[in-house]
Amino acid sequence: MKKKVLVFVATAALAVSAFGAMANAEGEKIGVAMPTQDLQRWNQDGANMKAQLEEKGYEVDLQYAGNDVATQVSQIENMIANGDQVLVIASIEGDSLGTVLAQAKENNIPVIAYDRLIMNTDAVSYYATFDNYLVGKTQGQFLVDALDLDNADGPFNLEMITGDPGDNNVNFFFGGAMDVLQKYIDDGKLVVPSGQMTKDEVATANWATDAAQARFENILSSNYADGTQLDAVLASNDSTALGVINALAANYDNDVYPIITGQDCDLPNVPHIIDGTQAMSVFKDTRTLAAQVVDMVDAIVKGEEVPVNDTETYDNGTGIIPSFLCEPVAVTLDNYKEVLIDSGYYTEDQFE
Ligand code: BGC
Repeated sequence: MKKKVLVFVATAALAVSAFGAMANAEGEKIGVAMPTQDLQRWNQDGANMKAQLEEKGYEVDLQYAGNDVATQVSQIENMIANGDQVLVIASIEGDSLGTVLAQAKENNIPVIAYDRLIMNTDAVSYYATFDNYLVGKTQGQFLVDALDLDNADGPFNLEMITGDPGDNNVNFFFGGAMDVLQKYIDDGKLVVPSGQMTKDEVATANWATDAAQARFENILSSNYADGTQLDAVLASNDSTALGVINALAANYDNDVYPIITGQDCDLPNVPHIIDGTQAMSVFKDTRTLAAQVVDMVDAIVKGEEVPVNDTETYDNGTGIIPSFLCEPVAVTLDNYKEVLIDSGYYTEDQFE
């Protein structure tokens, strides 16, 4: 492992010197490719990146692709053709950008993978994200604590839902949660009545709320219509948690309401945290991630050392990508005001 780290630190250093000092910020154009405006978080990500880059004097080419891979590819082609100096990309599907990023590499344009790792291309220079494995572990541990699994006899009924199988983050979210929960499933303290437990069985194409809702409507009518209680739902993020909440509202009135996890503190989910229909969400402050990426862009453009704090975890199939991992925070009814409102991320009237 050590050897690998050294090799890749060297690669990172080379990446800087290979691009050299390009210029000063003034007037340089940065391409920012975001997946979709459907989810609040990506709107915040895009807006924060744009504002913070502009503050440093950059021109920003910010594009949203409506969750359509072909649209994202053509947006990136345009960024390359327009002479953007650095590309910051939150991919829709991690495996679909190899060809277009080969063009970026030919044109000597550094690429930062934003939030989601871009797979199987050697054109990615850096990765900036939240600690995705920790997000999954935090969700799993939340369920362990809420059900008091180390002391209670159980068994408790659990169902699970994660996101798009083409999003590399899913491996870390679901993997991190399962690293915590699997032992309780093996011990029989947690039971999954639907029997759906593999990543493919619990995945949700495009992280879509409708698809999550439809799958849970089926699960509820097949396994819980007889009054069986659902104790907990591991949901990897808020858009899938919302589908679960919608399905429960129309198809479940058993005595116990399940403990549901989530991620993002998305605007439509915060009222559910407040009224108790979603127990928690993992907050990833997009201002922090944007600030980090802006520092990375600035260092690349100026030929300075690029700040990273992880050179071991994220292999995109061509080697480890030097990464910066920000820290996620668990949010519940107890701390949502402090974390989301006092910090200025949202205003209270946005939930009314
Ligand atoms: C992000 C999550 C988000 C999900 C759906 C993931 O890659 O890390 O924050 O909820 O995509 O957009």
